Amino acid sequence: MFQGVVHANARKIIARYIERLPRNVHIIGSGNFSIETTLRANGYRGTITGCDISLYSCVLGTYLAGGNISVVLNSIEFPELMALESHLGDSEGNAAAVAVALQTLRFRKRDNHYKRRMYNAHIRRLDALCEETRHKLRQKHLVVRLDDFHALDGWQRVAEIPSGDDHAIVTFPPTYSGGYERLYAELERAFHWERPEYQDLSDIAEIARGVAARSGPWIIGTEQPTAELEREVGEPIALSPRGSAVNISLYSNIPTLNAQLIRRRVNTQKRNWVRLTESDTIDESSLLSVHAISKPEANHIRAVYGSVDIQQSDAPFCYAVAVDGNLLGLLMFAPDVRPRPPQVDVGDREGVYLMCDLAVSSERYHRLGKLILMVARSEEMRRELENRLVRRLTWAVTTAFSRYPESMKYRGVFRRFSRVRLENGMYKLNYFSRLGEQSLREVLREWIRRFRTDSTDGLPKSHSCCLEKRRN
Ligand SMILES: C[S@@+](CC[C@H](N)C(=O)[O-])C[C@H]1O[C@@H](n2cnc3c(N)ncnc32)[C@H](O)[C@@H]1O
Repeated sequence: MFQGVVHANARKIIARYIERLPRNVHIIGSGNFSIETTLRANGYRGTITGCDISLYSCVLGTYLAGGNISVVLNSIEFPELMALESHLGDSEGNAAAVAVALQTLRFRKRDNHYKRRMYNAHIRRLDALCEETRHKLRQKHLVVRLDDFHALDGWQRVAEIPSGDDHAIVTFPPTYSGGYERLYAELERAFHWERPEYQDLSDIAEIARGVAARSGPWIIGTEQPTAELEREVGEPIALSPRGSAVNISLYSNIPTLNAQLIRRRVNTQKRNWVRLTESDTIDESSLLSVHAISKPEANHIRAVYGSVDIQQSDAPFCYAVAVDGNLLGLLMFAPDVRPRPPQVDVGDREGVYLMCDLAVSSERYHRLGKLILMVARSEEMRRELENRLVRRLTWAVTTAFSRYPESMKYRGVFRRFSRVRLENGMYKLNYFSRLGEQSLREVLREWIRRFRTDSTDGLPKSHSCCLEKRRN
């Protein structure tokens, strides 16, 4: 509950805007109330209204605004949720019951052992979970109070908001059409309520046109800026750093003294890793290993071995990959995953974002990049990340920017699930892989079988030494 949908980078900028916001702010598409929370937590004292059309946001929103809506359990289709019924009625109970149902229904398919176990555990504890959630809601309410909440189509709501400088509209519309419908499909079936009629809100240029047509201040955020959008609203006032897990562009007509992009500061720290050289052989007897390293160390490795074209940003979980103790490459992971493979049935909270994967260069072995990727999805890596994140992980995604419609490095190891042609002609490619299906030992064997080509095969040993000398 209340996990940020609006990325931390965007929340930071919104917080900086607080002193420039008028006395009334209206959020269109409240989602998880991250904007509302950011405003209140950073001292905004004006009025805030929310608006959304999903059951989940509507019960939370009406609770935070001190109102209520009628919600009835669909006990015919979902008899196993009966224990929620006693909580329904008051707005706190409605919000708690719906939030617990959402949490529980994620496992309802029970198509693997984990989901079966989680589902049964949730069903057994529905009542206790509601009590715990009621407590969390009360804590939240101490920080976030809304002056009003509208269970209403965002288009209609925009039309109702008074024009003029006293009222600002803030919106982060959905990135994909139908994305939230899929996310909440089971939940919406589990309850009867008066869902408002609504129109698609994912055409960012169209929304911008509607919002900017009204006279008054506005802020619009998106993960997918388009030329059409920028024709409507101009240049972004802020961008997240390139290479962030999520790229956010923010647009606004609110004048700011300090229009700024979020700048990147990269600390680096040197460590004396001995890198893999051309005379080091990788074969079945080699030992692959993964070593947790600090961010500055990772940044140092990236600065030395990474492409100069790729801009750098930090990621919290950094690992050196070694073979027989020699540095082979680097992996950096971030917990926050936004591009989600829509075609694959994976739990939302079970993903991790692979921010950086790179291999040291080698003239002897050409496909070390694939080996690093295979390490990223190994069982050892998965377990290590699970321990750091304290949650189950089953999949990873990553993004590549390429001049070609497919990235050769990821092909055959990760699966592409989206491709967007950017205005500069490059492709933005999102790739997905399940985690933990092979141990490091199996990874090495498979890489040798499928990808290893050794340019010194058949050459006398001295030649491989020459290769090394020539590089240094
Ligand atoms: C990207 S989320 C917004 C994130 C949100 N501002 C937050 O702080 O978490 C988009 C939201 O828009 C809502 N939405 C989709 N279509 C809508 C419509 N026609 N009117 C109002 N809200 C809509 C979705 O239910 C979703 O909660």
